[in-house]
Amino acid sequence: MKGVVLISGSGSNLQSLIDHAEKIDLDIQAVVSNKEDAYGLKRAQNANITTHVINHKTFSTREKFDQNLSQIIDQYSPDVIILAGFMRILTEEFTKKYIGKMLNIHPSLLPKFQGLNTHQRALDAKENEHGASVHFVTAELDGGPVIAQARVQVLAHDTAELLAKRVLAEEHKLLPKVVHCFTQGRLSLNDNCVVLDDKCL
Ligand code: GRF
Repeated sequence: MKGVVLISGSGSNLQSLIDHAEKIDLDIQAVVSNKEDAYGLKRAQNANITTHVINHKTFSTREKFDQNLSQIIDQYSPDVIILAGFMRILTEEFTKKYIGKMLNIHPSLLPKFQGLNTHQRALDAKENEHGASVHFVTAELDGGPVIAQARVQVLAHDTAELLAKRVLAEEHKLLPKVVHCFTQGRLSLNDNCVVLDDKCL
């Protein structure tokens, strides 16, 4: 399946997708970043994947940014669009256009801790466990139907940095697994509900 991956930063989840690509039947056609200094761009170039930078600051509105992003994505006619650390709020029009084929990884056990600073917020809330979720993207920020989660225990002397590191290691396993379910046709979105062959995870 053809995929386009959107990033904003380090791209370690992108790296995991690159490393697993063959095994999970994912042909990454392009990587798009809204930040020109995102290290993930380098990772893509090292893997000979086409990159695009689309700086959100050069657009007067969110709608114009999303329309241009959409034009870049559509050049590749992807079957799946993967948000791997893409830190932009998307317009309803954009999310509707790609409904059922856009996945996001979020570093919390959704619906807990939507938005930013999830690790510190989990510590502040004295959670015993924390983790990551992969969900279908809808217009609601980090609010689309959850497909799968990975959990880690919160330890007594955890800091946000330590917790982030352990969650990220889980993200690197979780995201390729979910993408593989999708590329095998064993995962879909139907009427805002996840349809998942439970044996595929
Ligand atoms: C990950 O924790 C992801 O869940 C969140 O941002 C982080 C991105 O990390 N949305 P990376 O760029 O994949 O290294």
